[in-house]
Amino acid sequence: EKGGFASFMDKEIHDQPQAVADTLLGRMDADGKLTLDEIHVDETILKSIDKMIVIACGTAAYAGQVAKYTIEHWCRIPVEVELAHEFRYRDPVVNEKTLVVAVSQSGETMDTIMAVRHARQQGAKVVAICNTYGSTIPRESDAALYTHAGPEVAVASTKAFLSQIVACYLLGLYLAQLRGNKFTDEVRVILDELQQIPEKIEKVLQLKEQVEQLARSVQNTQSVLFLGRHVGYPVALEGALKLKELAYIHAEGFAAGELKHGPIALIEDGQLVFIIVPSREGRDSLHAKVISNIQEVRARGANTIVIAEEGDEAVKEYASEVFYVPQTPTLLAPLLTTIPLQFFAMELATMKGLDVDQPRNLAKSVTVE
Ligand code: F6R
Repeated sequence: EKGGFASFMDKEIHDQPQAVADTLLGRMDADGKLTLDEIHVDETILKSIDKMIVIACGTAAYAGQVAKYTIEHWCRIPVEVELAHEFRYRDPVVNEKTLVVAVSQSGETMDTIMAVRHARQQGAKVVAICNTYGSTIPRESDAALYTHAGPEVAVASTKAFLSQIVACYLLGLYLAQLRGNKFTDEVRVILDELQQIPEKIEKVLQLKEQVEQLARSVQNTQSVLFLGRHVGYPVALEGALKLKELAYIHAEGFAAGELKHGPIALIEDGQLVFIIVPSREGRDSLHAKVISNIQEVRARGANTIVIAEEGDEAVKEYASEVFYVPQTPTLLAPLLTTIPLQFFAMELATMKGLDVDQPRNLAKSVTVE
């Protein structure tokens, strides 16, 4: 069942090119136009929405954070991301013009189910992004956009996460397409780039050995920090969550810009810090900002592990080690930069003799509130 891999998690990490390809499959017509037939919410309603709220928990909520950066950019619709259990117990401003997107691998997460009910009671349309056919969340939503990652057995989410991000892109691009021609060119470019992602993931999978060596050299570490900006920020959060879940190590993800507002006080000699570096393409010198963040922690003795795009020589000066991933547009980068972090958590857990598929205290689907 594990297809020759040591664990389901290892297999599922390697399933990611297929999971992404399958989630993209059949969602475009011959002219490259997106056809999300599953979204049978009236087009006039979709055109009139003035706000989106993504509700989810854990890793799925990080996919939602990636969605925020991308959908706001493509659609110019404000997107909020909220943990389902927080959304449920406050008084959110939701109405008929709100599109709520519930993201869930299992479709059975009670916190998310309750939030979906709460949103619909207030007149919002709900689209579920889900990996499990016929589960509760898509059944209780107005429409479902399925991720086609296949069954995910390991408790820690990997291929479902990447597929959720892809589904969020598709939804955002579809809304952009619905909202007018001026988006069309960019939609085309991104769709074309998305098709190339599975092949690029294959390349990232080849980093496994390099990650394993790193994990071996830091196996007694007690604390790991992850820094990212823009779409690299949710990737940092995901890297930290994976490490907590699997290796039981204290880990935290930060928006790199927050460093000087507090977290930099944590940096001391030998502190392991992962930094997710954005591509050098445009975007207000974000790349340079992150380079200076690496420099800041390095100057205070941090062991800086950098994830950057191929060809980015500038990161080398301040990096203890660099993991290079293929170039892709900034907004799509999480589909690549997440993978070394998945491997890292898995390798460290394995070295500590832990069960990577069944971490302590956790269940695959959390069916209680
Ligand atoms: C992390 C993880 C959890 C789930 C969360 C939501 O690896 O697996 O954080 O992502 O419990 O689960 P779903 O997506 O099934 O609603």
